[in-house]
Amino acid sequence: MASVTYDKATRISPGSDKPAVDQLEIDIEDGESLVLVGPSGCGKSTSLRMLAGLEDVNGGAIRIGNRDVTHLPPKDRDIAMVFQNYALYPHMTVADNMGFVLKIAGVSKSEIRAKVEDAAKMLDLTEYLSRKPKALSGGQRQRVAMGRAIVREPQVFLMDEPLSNLDAKLRVQTRTQIASLQQRLGITTVYVTHDQVEALTMGDRVAVLKDGLLQRVDSPQNMYDRPANLFVAGFIGSPAMNLVEVPITDGGVKFGNSVVPVSREALAVAADKGDKTVTVGVRPEHFDIVEQNGGTAKTLTKAASDAPAGLPVTVNVVEELGADGYIYGSAEVGRLDQGPRRPRQRPPGAGEGHRAPRPPAPRRDPRLRHLHRRAPHRLTPSPAAVPPPARDRPPVRGGIPGRGPGDDGDAGHR
Ligand SMILES: Nc1ncnc2c1ncn2[C@@H]1O[C@H](COP(=O)(O)OP(=O)(O)OP(=O)(O)O)[C@@H](O)[C@H]1O
Ligand SMILES: [Mg+2]
Repeated sequence: MASVTYDKATRISPGSDKPAVDQLEIDIEDGESLVLVGPSGCGKSTSLRMLAGLEDVNGGAIRIGNRDVTHLPPKDRDIAMVFQNYALYPHMTVADNMGFVLKIAGVSKSEIRAKVEDAAKMLDLTEYLSRKPKALSGGQRQRVAMGRAIVREPQVFLMDEPLSNLDAKLRVQTRTQIASLQQRLGITTVYVTHDQVEALTMGDRVAVLKDGLLQRVDSPQNMYDRPANLFVAGFIGSPAMNLVEVPITDGGVKFGNSVVPVSREALAVAADKGDKTVTVGVRPEHFDIVEQNGGTAKTLTKAASDAPAGLPVTVNVVEELGADGYIYGSAEVGRLDQGPRRPRQRPPGAGEGHRAPRPPAPRRDPRLRHLHRRAPHRLTPSPAAVPPPARDRPPVRGGIPGRGPGDDGDAGHR
């Protein structure tokens, strides 16, 4: 095991003047699992392949432990890589597939058998050791590919979308298996994915890339709760955060009929720049639903005290997903996602008017968010109604519907 350091590592592909990976700087601790995530073409695979030695590094350095491996061939780096398209040898048994690299390396037969059996036990493959790959399911084959990497006992595991060939159910199962295996083995791992759930669950930390540039490295929770910039805010989380540009008013921002408090710092930054508007980011689960004409905005500002509470939303589509439900709709204040509706609340029909009350004040208790995620329904805008990824505007956290501006913001969590 070893730490991994990308030290301003840069890759410029032949024939291109724009770096595929631009001065990447990440320190990955010994035993840590880091997830690289970002949109297609952002440089995830290139970063991984640079670490593996499959892609030249044109600037900066890469270190594994104390060794500078920047220009070492792959075989001297002590890494094992699992690709999306893992190719097993069809004519070999599972055991031979897993032990093949060790055989090439001249390891004794008895040692190979011991290592293969150990890995098979970890991966639940013992009963399949004498089968050929064609007699295995997709998930079992994927585990053989993992086994092939494990028997090498590398210092670093590199995985490039290893689950994307599996069906949804198998992906969930294998995802948890890989995560627990990584914890058990404690091998430093770099895991590439574009899957939101994998990004938030597979690593101790997440690194978000965009156009070859590192946006942020942070824990999954921080990434979700305190995104570093608008790109991260819009990218992390599914369904995506609503990013709505709203006017600044006394004490906060005007959001529908409500005034939502915004941090003084954010308002000060906007004032310094002479901005009249700020972008508010509201996670879908932080909206609450009230019936139309379900009350007035008496908890809001005096000026709005006679206005109906919340924000009228026209519902375009309702997606019932069993445990969750998403509502796609549009509203006058930009276009919005809404949060979970109350348990047993009747799902609104398409076209029905609803009010998504004020967005929330910052949450205080992280445990509440967990509860909140289990809320039976969530409401979001239609894909067409989602604002284009607002990548150039700073995010501002919103508040929770249904509470006065002075409340602590836990209102959205039931
Ligand atoms: N051999 C190459 N020659 C020229 N450009 C390349 C080469 N390999 C990759 N690129 C470019 O480098 C950029 C990063 O590619 P990379 O494969 O790392 O993206 P990615 O983040 O893994 O995307 P995906 O999610 O689609 O796999 C892309 O713009 C790609 O077109
Ligand atoms: Mg890739």
